[in-house]
Amino acid sequence: MAQQRTDIDVIDELVTDHREALQLLGRIVSSTDVDERRELADTVISEVVRHSVVEEMYVYPAMREYLPDGEQAAKHDTEEHQELEKVMKQLEGVQAAEPRFDALIQEMTDKLRHHAHDEETEQFPQLRERVPRDELIKLREKVDSAKKVAPTRPHPGAPHSELFHKIVGPGVGMVDRLRDKLTNRPH
Ligand SMILES: [Fe+2]
Ligand SMILES: [Fe+2]
Repeated sequence: MAQQRTDIDVIDELVTDHREALQLLGRIVSSTDVDERRELADTVISEVVRHSVVEEMYVYPAMREYLPDGEQAAKHDTEEHQELEKVMKQLEGVQAAEPRFDALIQEMTDKLRHHAHDEETEQFPQLRERVPRDELIKLREKVDSAKKVAPTRPHPGAPHSELFHKIVGPGVGMVDRLRDKLTNRPH
């Protein structure tokens, strides 16, 4: 039987995000069309920011709660997000035809690959082991909702997860429905 959307847990979802972001970065490297490179870069930046925000909101708190070294791991991972944000912030301001653009894409790829590898080989397997499956599925649902309203621009130095919490955190579902209504965005 095919996997139902409702069976997908938060780890599956985040690993898929990592794969998709790395694929987008690969497409930038192989593209020679300046406009396409810019568009792909803007897409991957917004996807990675969104991904980082929802991890910081829901997944790192679960790490702190369930993993023996969770506090340390969450701190380390958040620092790596900040590093990525710095690179993405620079990438936003560089023309896709400049050599600097390629260097930054390479830097972002290296940093993301390293960070995703850490999560996928260390923290995520431990979460799978220690967090009940229905809880992991609930987290995936929360992450899905939060992604729809999460910021998509890099803010290096600002703990955007806190900012996000302050603005929409408690009412994510409500804000989400309101925005769908206003923009008629399909799911
Ligand atoms: Fe992360
Ligand atoms: Fe991640």
